[in-house]
Amino acid sequence: MRKNKFSNRWLQSHNKDPYVKKARESHFRSRAVYKLQEINEKDKLIKPDYCVVDLGSSPGSWSQYLSSIIDSRGQIIAIDILPMEPIEQVFYISGDFTDEIIQKECLRQAGKKGADLVISDMAPNLTGIKVTDQSRNMALAELVYDFCTQILKPGGDLLVKLFEGEGTYEFRRFLQEKFSKVIVRKPKASRDQSREFYILARSYKL
Ligand SMILES: C[S@@+](CC[C@H](N)C(=O)[O-])C[C@H]1O[C@@H](n2cnc3c(N)ncnc32)[C@H](O)[C@@H]1O
Repeated sequence: MRKNKFSNRWLQSHNKDPYVKKARESHFRSRAVYKLQEINEKDKLIKPDYCVVDLGSSPGSWSQYLSSIIDSRGQIIAIDILPMEPIEQVFYISGDFTDEIIQKECLRQAGKKGADLVISDMAPNLTGIKVTDQSRNMALAELVYDFCTQILKPGGDLLVKLFEGEGTYEFRRFLQEKFSKVIVRKPKASRDQSREFYILARSYKL
């Protein structure tokens, strides 16, 4: 009974959300697109000839947005555990990003040149235990960085979602040593009540 009340309330506020409405009208698969769009408009992240890796890509609004910018000189590689409907120009890898086989497939697809940009909107499944959830978030973010050391070109950029809490400050400091510039972004489409924010690390030093 309580669960129904909660999900009804969630559905009502979801349907009233202007970003949900806008995404539906613009045929984007998720309101999340407006987070990437705002960051890109501000920071000029994505270029038409870029090779971009989209981690945690499903249902696919970030990949749709990438596909509207990237032309035949570039490529988009998307990874998710959940299925994703095809998107033009997007090479989708179905699987768990933490699995080495999946990472190898992505590396093979990117080729020797590697990626210009890695974006991660991944969030692990929540257990409801705050400490466990935060340590899983941070472990995933660290794994994303480790993957960048294999796939990112020198001078490449990383955009990664984090949740404010234990370890985020240290992670940011760590990235400052590895990238020329590290910026924090909280786009308007990211709900105020959510601890979610994005770190944009620019120009990988190698
Ligand atoms: C917030 S959604 C991403 C929304 C997406 N950016 C979009 O615009 O449609 C987060 C996604 O991360 C995926 N995810 C979480 N952990 C993952 C992992 N270890 N490997 C692959 N995908 C993962 C989830 O399955 C989920 O689809």
